[in-house]
Amino acid sequence: MTRHFLRDDDLSQAEQLEILDLAEQLKKDRFQTKPLAGPQTVAVIFDKSSTRTRVSFAVGIADLGGSPLIISTANSQLGGKETAADTARVLERQVAAIVWRTYAQAGLSEMAEGTTVPVINALSDDFHPCQLLADLLTIREHRGELAGLTVTFLGDGASNMAQSYLLAGATAGMHMRVASPIDYAPHDEVVRDADAVAAVTGGSITLFTDPIEAVAGADVVVTDTWVSMGKEDEKAERLTSFGQYQVNAELMALAKPDALFLHCLPADRGFEVTAEVIDGPQSVIWDEAENRLHAQKALMVWLLERA
Ligand code: CP
Ligand code: NVA
Repeated sequence: MTRHFLRDDDLSQAEQLEILDLAEQLKKDRFQTKPLAGPQTVAVIFDKSSTRTRVSFAVGIADLGGSPLIISTANSQLGGKETAADTARVLERQVAAIVWRTYAQAGLSEMAEGTTVPVINALSDDFHPCQLLADLLTIREHRGELAGLTVTFLGDGASNMAQSYLLAGATAGMHMRVASPIDYAPHDEVVRDADAVAAVTGGSITLFTDPIEAVAGADVVVTDTWVSMGKEDEKAERLTSFGQYQVNAELMALAKPDALFLHCLPADRGFEVTAEVIDGPQSVIWDEAENRLHAQKALMVWLLERA
């Protein structure tokens, strides 16, 4: 049966590890394998803006011997005029895989339902699982073993990044903490699913409203924009609600002295993070951005050849 990657817990702990190991190998030798030789085409569809995802998938598909077809929904039939299911029927006869950045998670499920080629979530309102593979790869490069590390995400707990951290972190056996205002807590179903995964891997999930408590002794501190794509109308309200969750030098000082700082980018310096922290010595954001390439290549190789 065709495997898809729609949310972080689509992979078991062993599968996630296998992909991270493969990413590490591909980072050492970028052109070692060409599963897309032909070249076969991969459709990469965007309903929302992107720099990193667009570049890393286009470059990664080319590195694997394939040809990326970047589609903007603004000038395609998907969305307004054609369903995800019908689009999948058309694409699957011509492409090796479908990568899609969209709004509702339900659209991705519809695209994947019964489709003969792998569908990859390149960000939805609920999850950003490709980013998490890159983040885990980055943390592992700097800290070795993932299992047992304490990771604190601060800010919008119901965002795609926070929720993916809960699922992917639990899968990796990490102790995941999310600190957010009560009105922006992660969705109950996601917390329940992450808890169930953590019970198997030895990880844990803890939610906080107090950023100081949440960051105490953490190995890794993570944040993301307070205004995700699609939430622009709520900007003023969000900037007020999230003020105390800013990652600044004072807050970082409460984590472990060598704690890493991650941010998926793009960043709003002076809002969710100060320039001092994001551009400082504990920040590994450029490794994190580069690792999108290696992690997604590993994911594609795994879905095409090993799943
Ligand atoms: N981090 C991330 O997904 O960046 P883009 O929006 O630029 O793709
Ligand atoms: N949470 C952000 C991530 C951007 C890569 C958003 O959805 O806009």
